[in-house]
Amino acid sequence: MKSQFVDELRAGQTVKETFVLSKKIMKDKKDGGGFYAILEFSDRSGSIDGISWDGENLSHISVGDFVFITGNVNEYGGRLQVVVNAISRVEDEEIDAKDFLPQYTGDIDEVLTDIEGFKAKVKDVHLRRLLDTFFEDSDFVERFRLAPAAKRVHHAYLGGLAVHTLSVLRLLENIRSVYEFVNSDLLITAGILHDIGKIYEYEYKKNIDLSNRGRLLGHIVIGSEMVAERIARMPGFPEDLKLKLMHMILSHHGETEWGSPKQPLFPEALILHFVDNLDAKVEMMKQAFEKHRGKNRQWSDYHPYLEREIYLGEE
Ligand SMILES: [Fe+2]
Ligand SMILES: [Fe+2]
Repeated sequence: MKSQFVDELRAGQTVKETFVLSKKIMKDKKDGGGFYAILEFSDRSGSIDGISWDGENLSHISVGDFVFITGNVNEYGGRLQVVVNAISRVEDEEIDAKDFLPQYTGDIDEVLTDIEGFKAKVKDVHLRRLLDTFFEDSDFVERFRLAPAAKRVHHAYLGGLAVHTLSVLRLLENIRSVYEFVNSDLLITAGILHDIGKIYEYEYKKNIDLSNRGRLLGHIVIGSEMVAERIARMPGFPEDLKLKLMHMILSHHGETEWGSPKQPLFPEALILHFVDNLDAKVEMMKQAFEKHRGKNRQWSDYHPYLEREIYLGEE
């Protein structure tokens, strides 16, 4: 865990910390005595300018590398900058991703506890056992706690998958109070598991990006494989229940052009699709409001996923 973050740096402070090198421009010194470097350092809280008068220090360091720097903060042209005394590359393995990526600002453990609270409501022994095998697996839980729900579109921050999953579960609970005939155990189980493929769809070390597995298979296929693998190790799991659960994962995007090989073919699957879609789109609109706050605008930029401009109203 880092102890110094960009947004806390002030003029006069000494810096001894790890950042991502996010900009590097080498320049000739005017006196002809070698190079200096215009730099920028970043972490999850933002970025700050930097300068190194000894450009040779930077020859083995590239943009995107993690670097440990020592230096001092001063103000130049009204902006803070770090004057670098020493800089060295840090291996990716030594880095804690949480220091460098946007993350859920609330308590992610509370989100996990609430999701487990929904799990506890599942009475069907097979579905309950299936969920338990996931949540007793510490590797799964750690990934599920950390994963983003998207690269850009919605919940694109560490913990976003769990936050989105909990919203889906809460919406499903409300819908069940209207459509009482639906299978509540199936809805909760599919609600919890519908996006678990995202724990492998994304890589989230320096920035949130698709993994090779994510690019080639996508979270719908990865998630259905994860569920099928667990069920295969559970003798006596009813075939019909397995098919329904698999179908709900495969059809939750609703249409083939949105990545689902099947359209929802029974009520629980249809409900999951609409709830998933609702949460994602409401979150996109919410983000559009946040992005334009304080800019005195009535309409957002064109939103490529929602395919419209959002009315922001009067500020
Ligand atoms: Fe999804
Ligand atoms: Fe989802």
